Amino acid sequence: MRVDGQPALMLGGSNYLDLAGDERVVSAARAAAREYGCAAGGSRLINGNLEIHEALERELAAFAGTESALLFSTGYMANLGLITALAGPEDVVVSDALNHASIIDACRLSRAETRVFRHNDPEDFEKLAGTLSGFRERILVADGVYSMDGDIARLRELVPIARRYEMRVVLDDAHGLGILGETGRGSAEHEQVEVDVQIGNLGKALGSFGAYVACSATLREFLINVSRSFIFTCAPAPAAAGAARAALSVIREEPWRRRALLERAAQLRDGLRAGGFDTGLSESQIVPAILGDNQATMRLCNAALARGVYAHGIRYPSVPDGGARLRFTPMCSHTLEEIDEVVRVFHELAHADTHE
Ligand SMILES: Cc1ncc(COP(=O)(O)O)c(C=O)c1O
Repeated sequence: MRVDGQPALMLGGSNYLDLAGDERVVSAARAAAREYGCAAGGSRLINGNLEIHEALERELAAFAGTESALLFSTGYMANLGLITALAGPEDVVVSDALNHASIIDACRLSRAETRVFRHNDPEDFEKLAGTLSGFRERILVADGVYSMDGDIARLRELVPIARRYEMRVVLDDAHGLGILGETGRGSAEHEQVEVDVQIGNLGKALGSFGAYVACSATLREFLINVSRSFIFTCAPAPAAAGAARAALSVIREEPWRRRALLERAAQLRDGLRAGGFDTGLSESQIVPAILGDNQATMRLCNAALARGVYAHGIRYPSVPDGGARLRFTPMCSHTLEEIDEVVRVFHELAHADTHE
């Protein structure tokens, strides 16, 4: 892409499978806009409920392997609507320390007791889980792939603990959907566990916009009736729904995309590590290079851009203070040579920095 007019290799977005500009996805968006117009024209409960929303929900549920699914206008709103519906003042939500901001805000808004366990630490989670028998509902909420570190939730250990303590398991798989697991169903499939509720995002691997909750038919009905971020907002634009439907079928038919993406990420991770960069716990398509210092991070970010590589400089509050980093998110369509070029640029910049 071009950044301020200069060509750059893009390693900074969530269009992981390069579907946002895919001709099939764009045509489907165009066709949906032509058929339904550019706006849904209201809330789903008033006059914004369109056939294309329900068709997409059926397809998402089939993909997720759940009874049903419910669209939300964004992932942020899905977390808000779901968690405030499931938990109230007599309940407890147990949340990973690095969960997404929308989960943190949802917990606050729910007025449930919130307990936080050390990031991706089943032992710490179990210690907490054993102290919660006084609450009515007990809910474990975790991201599937942590968006700033690129590690995957240790669901194989966390879920059995949650089951032992009769907790409901909610998984926000914004970055795992379409990428992880044998068929691209995401982190739960990767970890070979069943969770109770999954949140999927249409604005990342699916190259569109919006999100959904995949769940039982009963929970879907409940959410329709109580989720304020579902009820009091405009329904998703028809073009976004059309694009997501097309992207979902590409994801089903072209597994090479997720395989290529994970291969590019591994190549990048190995290359950065070989150049002395700390890639932390990354094991997915999200690859950080953790520097710690804000200024050094932004200096490296700008120097890389001047050499035609775009990676995000991330600072507090997106990551803990002192955890500043460059965050690379390759795409399945980067060539092996392009990733080599990125690695070469960063080796040279690291060398230049240590000799400054
Ligand atoms: C884990 C996670 N959950 C939720 C969201 C919010 O999704 P959206 O951008 O659709 O609001 C994001 C990303 O932005 C995310 O990374």
